[in-house]
Amino acid sequence: MAPLDPHSFSDSTNPPTTDVSLSLYFDFPSATIHGVAFFILAFPYAGQLSFDTRSLTIHQVLSPINLSPLPFSLSSSPDPIKGTQLSIFLPDDDDTAFNSFFIVFSTSPSSTALQWLCPPQTFNKKHPFVYTQCQSIHARSIFPCQDTPAARIRYTALLNVPQELSAVMSARHVGRRPPVSGEGHSHLLPNGFNSLWSSETRVVEEFLMNQPIPPYLFAFAVGELGSREVGPRTRVYAEAVNSVLDAAAKEFAGTEEMIRQGEKLFGEYAWERFDLLVLPPSFPYGGMENPRMVFLTPTVIKGDASGAQVVAHELAHSWTGNLITNKNNEHFWLNEGFTTYAERRIVEAVQGEDRAILNTGIGWKGLKEEVEKFKDNLEFTKLKNNQQGVDPDTIYSEVPYEKGFQFLWRIERQIGRPAFDEFIKKYIATFQFQSIDTERFLKFLKAEVPGIEKDIDLVLWTEGTGIPPDAYEPVSDLYTKILSLANEFKLGRMPREDEVADWRGQEWELYLENLPRVLKASQVLALDESYRLSESKDYEVKVAFLQLAILSKCRNFYSEVEKTLKEVGRMKYLRPLYRALVQGAGKEEEKILAKRVFSEARECYHPIAQGVVESILAKHI
Ligand code: BES
Ligand code: ZN
Repeated sequence: MAPLDPHSFSDSTNPPTTDVSLSLYFDFPSATIHGVAFFILAFPYAGQLSFDTRSLTIHQVLSPINLSPLPFSLSSSPDPIKGTQLSIFLPDDDDTAFNSFFIVFSTSPSSTALQWLCPPQTFNKKHPFVYTQCQSIHARSIFPCQDTPAARIRYTALLNVPQELSAVMSARHVGRRPPVSGEGHSHLLPNGFNSLWSSETRVVEEFLMNQPIPPYLFAFAVGELGSREVGPRTRVYAEAVNSVLDAAAKEFAGTEEMIRQGEKLFGEYAWERFDLLVLPPSFPYGGMENPRMVFLTPTVIKGDASGAQVVAHELAHSWTGNLITNKNNEHFWLNEGFTTYAERRIVEAVQGEDRAILNTGIGWKGLKEEVEKFKDNLEFTKLKNNQQGVDPDTIYSEVPYEKGFQFLWRIERQIGRPAFDEFIKKYIATFQFQSIDTERFLKFLKAEVPGIEKDIDLVLWTEGTGIPPDAYEPVSDLYTKILSLANEFKLGRMPREDEVADWRGQEWELYLENLPRVLKASQVLALDESYRLSESKDYEVKVAFLQLAILSKCRNFYSEVEKTLKEVGRMKYLRPLYRALVQGAGKEEEKILAKRVFSEARECYHPIAQGVVESILAKHI
């Protein structure tokens, strides 16, 4: 057994799956999906095949020839990180080994990729909603698979849903039509769902993804959805509530311009459409780069077009991440570091250099703080790191983003922007639709830029801990001004109205993050008195302020903290607020608050966010 990936049971001697066809029956009352999957392998194979599963019931594995049952077994107890190994035994019949088979399975309500929302948890309050978040290792809780980015798959899917709902996927929408009895081998579905398949109250949404993608980019959402056109290849989807759709359409009106800039910088956009889906507030990330259908938190809709940064980031993944993917999570920086670099180039092109520098400055501060947080576990300050026995959700940090960005920016400074632009274009063209590791990247870099290792310590950058000495803090008038205002606050001077009059969210975010971590309660109150930061509609600002209030034990804002923790599920906000509440000594009141709020809000969080908050509380309470 030769493992490919520390987070997968997949075996490198097994053929990878190349294609999967899914027929999925969505049973909202039981928060369960019943499915039939047909897998095609890269080559015929006889013997044991290892797949990943989590919280799945496997009903049957069937021969592709005559649908006779094939032997399979599940590991007796699940691995806490990887889940349950499914072993399938493919026979060697008459010397013709199979290169395909069926699996009949059901998900469970605790499937970690899925959040099932009941009507009161949605915007329109009328219909249920379900959506996926598969990165990094949750696809296995929807269907059995070789859940490693090293194995790219094409897929087709028939989603059978109640007729009042509709579906979107990270795939081309082929059509919406009445279900046909037995189609897509749905006659194999368990527990009577085979006959319910073609009931009059159901509809089938059909999708095709004919470009090979890593399993973590498998995605769907089902609910009462509406949409607005915002560009020639972009529609924005959200729950069918006019106010939400209108606000989203306005916020993302500049998307086509960003795609054009991306194409200029990185080559043709490969995925045909670039649609956006705005999810309910419990979506655990800012954005997720599902191909053809980016998923977004509604918190990016701020009414001032600043959500464009998150869209620029997810768009950038269309090249860096979705075209070239990290082979496994130990090389995650290849995805996020490149994407952060590409995001800032797009932001610079559409919003100007000042904005891009501000983002770089916010990232620089974030990197320094993350490195400090990992001071007892320096492994995760390395770009390439060892994740054997490590849950990628619990070590998620800004390091791969910002240190990865710094590394690429360092190379850009060394060889100059024109040469670096050519290098990136060639890198993307060379490795598109492949999954690669750090070594492969370095080999390409050294071949393209002979002698680079003499100028830049590539080993220190990719294998060393902390921040290399030749990393770089950005400079601009605006950036420097904000930092010096933050320094003056330490001497007791609050910024004047005229100094902050044209500040937007990012200026405030940078300012707040550069204040001392702990202030006097009276200073926190004075800041809010002048600038109403606790009421900001921009969650980046509001959360940075509330974090400061908690660390300064300024209890006047605890009801706002509670409200915030109950209205959003984005982990970027949950993590710092819960951490600030429970970290450190003499925090009994805060710990009680954190526990109570979590017990009341838990059900509203996505399972991934539930797990992350649980691990923060377990560490400190
Ligand atoms: N791919 C990530 C989100 C992700 C990473 C999900 C790891 C699961 C595991 C996405 O592209 C991302 O980085 N989102 C950021 C956006 C920000 C950097 C603009 C986020 O959610 O905050
Ligand atoms: Zn990203």
